[in-house]
Amino acid sequence: MKIIDASSHGKQPLKSLDTLYIKTFGCQMNEYDSSRMIDLMKSSYGLRLVATPEEADIILMNTCSVREKAEEKVFSDLGRYRLIKEKRPDLIIGVGGCVAQQEGARIQARAPYVDVVFGPQTYHRLPEMIHEIRRDRVRKMEIEMLEIEKFDHLPQATQAGVSGLVTVMEGCDKFCTFCVVPFTRGAEISRPVVDVLHECQSLLAAGKIEINLLGQTVNAYRAEGPDGEMWDFAALLYAVADLPGLVRLRFTTSHPMDMSPGILQAFEDLPVLMPYLHLPVQSGSNQVLKLMHRNHTREHYLEIIETLRGHAPDIALSSDFIVGYPGESDQDFEDTLDLVRQVGFDTAFCFKYSPRPGTAANQVEDSVPEAVKDRRLQALLALTRELTRDSMQRQIGKTVAVLVERASKAEGEMQGRTPDLRIVHFVGQPRLIGHIVEVTVTEAYGQSLRGDLVIIDA
Ligand code: SAH
Ligand code: SF4
Ligand code: F3S
Repeated sequence: MKIIDASSHGKQPLKSLDTLYIKTFGCQMNEYDSSRMIDLMKSSYGLRLVATPEEADIILMNTCSVREKAEEKVFSDLGRYRLIKEKRPDLIIGVGGCVAQQEGARIQARAPYVDVVFGPQTYHRLPEMIHEIRRDRVRKMEIEMLEIEKFDHLPQATQAGVSGLVTVMEGCDKFCTFCVVPFTRGAEISRPVVDVLHECQSLLAAGKIEINLLGQTVNAYRAEGPDGEMWDFAALLYAVADLPGLVRLRFTTSHPMDMSPGILQAFEDLPVLMPYLHLPVQSGSNQVLKLMHRNHTREHYLEIIETLRGHAPDIALSSDFIVGYPGESDQDFEDTLDLVRQVGFDTAFCFKYSPRPGTAANQVEDSVPEAVKDRRLQALLALTRELTRDSMQRQIGKTVAVLVERASKAEGEMQGRTPDLRIVHFVGQPRLIGHIVEVTVTEAYGQSLRGDLVIIDA
C-alpha cells in the first residue's frame, strides 16, 4: 500500500510527512505492536524513524494502563509534545495502545491537540486515519474492537533488535479482578498456526536467531493447525522449534491454569526452548488468590514448579506479585513471602495494588492503607532482591552462551543475554551483535553479570 497524500487540494499545501517518532510503554506486546506500526508507516508513507520528538512530523505513543503510574506518564509526556506542536502546528500527535482504548474520550477532552486516538485492535488503519486527518483537518478516534484480523492488513514484519517478537494470541478471557487487560485488549484470540510459522520464518530469514512468542496468556493458545485440527500451545512450540535457523525460543506471559503437562515436557524435549519461565502468581495466599479470581491455589502453583523442575532442573523462574490487594492481611502477606522462599525465584516483579477503572476489584474499597502497602512492598523487594543476588552469585565461574544484543553504556563493552535471560557485560566488538558467544562469568551484580569473552583459537 502506498498512500499518495493529495490532501492539499484547494487548500494551502501540507507539509510532506517524512519522519516518525514512536514512544512505547508497557509490555512486550506493545513493543511488538510498535514495530508493526513502524513497518506500516514506512510502507505507506515512506517515513523514517527519528530518535527525538522534536525532529518528528508524526509522534505516536503506544501506551499502557495496567497501573495508574503508567497512565499518568502518558499525560506528562503529552504536555511536552503540546509545546512542540505550538511551534509546528502541522505536527500530528497520535495516542494508541491500552490507555487509548480505555480512556479515549478523556484523552480527547484533556488533550485537544491530540489528532488521533486508536486502540490496540485498530492500528492497521493508521495510514488511512492520518490521511483523513490531513485531508479533512479533523481529529479521529478509533477504539472499536474490530472483528476482522488486523494481522491480515499489516505489511511483512521486520524488527530491530536481535530477538524476534511474534504475537501468537492476544486478549484475555481470565478477568482477574485487578486487571484492565481483558478490557483494553479484548477477548482472547489466537492466530492460525500457519500465520505464526510464516512470521517466524520471515524473521529467521532476516537473520534473527531468537524468537519470543507473545500473548497475554500465551499458553492458552488454541488455533487451527495446517492439518485442520485444533492445536494447543505445546503443539505450536514443537512446530516453531523445528524451523531451520532457530537457535533460541522463548514465550511470555503464561498463566498457571494453562500450564499443561505438554508445555512442561517441552522444556525437556526441545533444546532450543530456553531454560527460563515467567509464571506470574500474584500472591502466596489462597484467600487472596481466590479474591483475585486466579482460579488456582498456592499448592497447585507449587506442583507446577515441581513438575517443571523435574523436566528442567536448572530452569530460571520469575514471577509477578501484587501487594496490598483489598482484604490482604498480614498473614496473607506472610504467605506470599513464604511462597517466594519456597520456590526461590531468580527474578521477581513486585507491584503495589493500583485500583483500575472498570475492573471488579475497583467495586470494593482499596482497603489496605498506603503505608502498609509500602511496608509490604519493601519487605518483598528486600527478599526477592536477595534471592536475585544469590542466584547471580551462583553464576560466577560458569561459561555461558551469550546472545549479544547491543553495546553497553561502558566504552568498548557489549551486552547480551544468557539462555536463562541474565544480562552479561563483557569487553567485545559491535560485530558480535546478533551472534552467540561464550563468556566466562567473573563478577555478579544485583541485576547483571560481567565476564570475559572466551577466545576460540581457529
Ligand atoms: N498477562 C500477564 C500479565 C498482565 S499485567 C498475566 O496474566 O500474568 C503484568 C502484571 O502487572 C501482572 O502480572 C500483575 O502483577 C501486575 N498488575 C496488573 N494489574 C495490576 C493492578 N491493578 N495493580 C498492580 N499491579 C497490577
Ligand atoms: Fe490480566 Fe489475569 Fe488476564 Fe493476566 S490472566 S492479562 S492478570 S486478567
Ligand atoms: Fe499494559 Fe496493555 Fe500490555 S495494559 S501491560 S500495554 S496489554
